[in-house]
Amino acid sequence: MSRTQSGTDDTTESGMDSGPNGGAADGPYGVTENDDSGGRARGDAAAAEAVRRFIPLLDYPLYVVTVASAGERAGCLVGFASQCSIGPERFMIWLSRANHTFGVARSAALLGVHLLGRHQYALAELFGGRTGDRFDKFGHVRWYEGEGGTPVLTDAPAWFVGRVEGRTDGGDHVGFLLTPVTGGGPRAGRGDPLRLSDAAGLTAGHPAT
Ligand SMILES: Cc1cc2nc3c(=O)[nH]c(=O)nc-3n(C[C@H](O)[C@H](O)[C@H](O)COP(=O)(O)O)c2cc1C
Repeated sequence: MSRTQSGTDDTTESGMDSGPNGGAADGPYGVTENDDSGGRARGDAAAAEAVRRFIPLLDYPLYVVTVASAGERAGCLVGFASQCSIGPERFMIWLSRANHTFGVARSAALLGVHLLGRHQYALAELFGGRTGDRFDKFGHVRWYEGEGGTPVLTDAPAWFVGRVEGRTDGGDHVGFLLTPVTGGGPRAGRGDPLRLSDAAGLTAGHPAT
């Protein structure tokens, strides 16, 4: 993991050899095919096949990641994300280089990370099914300016704003290492996050590559 000053674009360290696996019926995020053969994988082709079987087993939470930088606002739905350190508490989120959000985030010092409740498919659709290239998502959602102007979604059950500690090349997505600096929630009774399986049928608003 490289450590860089916020505002630079150091994505030179390589991560995995290839980007997230494609082939989903509804686009590259999540794969819907699986079978029960349970065979062992050896060699490149078999390993690729094993990954194709592995990925459909995942059902991760979805987040809305927001950013404001150089007078622009952006945000998109993100599934490639995880806590990655306990002490210090850190979180990694992965943005497609192709997305409008990445273009704004690449020079940003802060990113907002929002969990969605299971009932909030409409928010997932707004941020994951439309691109900011042609559409102002923030004209269709309740939000306010948080730390450093970062858009905070009023209706998100839990959120934090994280300082960008560094970026790393993961292939067609770039990882943003975040240290939370402020946050809110959870709201009572909203502990059931929207997951990949809840977004079945949602097609990404921007080609991933
Ligand atoms: C279920 C799902 C998961 C997604 N996960 C990611 C992700 O982890 N990273 C990412 O950059 N885009 C992800 N996307 C795609 C973007 O949210 C989508 O292309 C969005 O329209 C991009 O908006 P933008 O061009 O305004 O940035 C996902 C989309 C869906 C439907």
